[in-house]
Amino acid sequence: MGSLTYFDFLAKFGVGGAHPGGIHLTQSILANEKINNQSVILDAGCGTGQTAAYLYQQYGAKVFGLEINPIMVEKAKKRFQTLQLPISLIQGSIEEIPFADETFDFILSESVLAFVNKPKALKEFYRVLKKGGRLLANEMTINRPISHQEAAEIMNFYAVDSLLLEEGWKQLFKTAGFQNIEIHAHNLPLSHGNQTPEFNFSENFEPELFHVLNEHGNIVIKYQDTLSYRIISVTK
Ligand SMILES: C[S@@+](CC[C@H](N)C(=O)[O-])C[C@H]1O[C@@H](n2cnc3c(N)ncnc32)[C@H](O)[C@@H]1O
Repeated sequence: MGSLTYFDFLAKFGVGGAHPGGIHLTQSILANEKINNQSVILDAGCGTGQTAAYLYQQYGAKVFGLEINPIMVEKAKKRFQTLQLPISLIQGSIEEIPFADETFDFILSESVLAFVNKPKALKEFYRVLKKGGRLLANEMTINRPISHQEAAEIMNFYAVDSLLLEEGWKQLFKTAGFQNIEIHAHNLPLSHGNQTPEFNFSENFEPELFHVLNEHGNIVIKYQDTLSYRIISVTK
């Protein structure tokens, strides 16, 4: 069942906080920012909407979720309805963000940028951020240069077009025009993952998705010294 992807697994299992460190890391990153009830925030690739919900509940911010996967959109919508949160949810791509220039004070990209056309999405992030706005990202990063064969295995599993070292990320953000580029390493492997997982299973899902889950486990363990993540914060 080669056609089922890691994202099919995340969507059908309804994994919330699908990024390293989970909601706890998110909360500590947000606590360092000047967010209030006037802040206009885009959760780019919001998944099932756990962070978007937190942004409204904690700060009363004006929150927008953008997500490409229809199953994720459905689950996020359900979350916001159930909790009665006034969060706008838009189905679309971060490579072509359906918002006007200089709309947002903050953009969050929690394990999303790594999976798309990075220069294209960064150009869009820059365009829709206000001057002085902040982009906060938590993205997969390799700790050392790796062989072609290793890269192919990882890139094939995650369906990504490149794997970046910290320096690679830095260059990309710089090229996109961002300033105050700060990159924090937590020095934890991806296997550290999200210690407080949340699931929202679809009624029906392909049993082969367990195979994808298993394959993911194998990759994070095999590359635990190599495959990590960085918290990247920048200003427009
Ligand atoms: C690893 S998950 C992270 C989800 C969420 N940010 C979280 O932390 O729980 C990546 C998410 O990005 C979404 N995604 C992938 N490509 C996208 C794109 N081009 N535009 C918007 N969302 C995208 C996927 O559907 C998935 O929900």
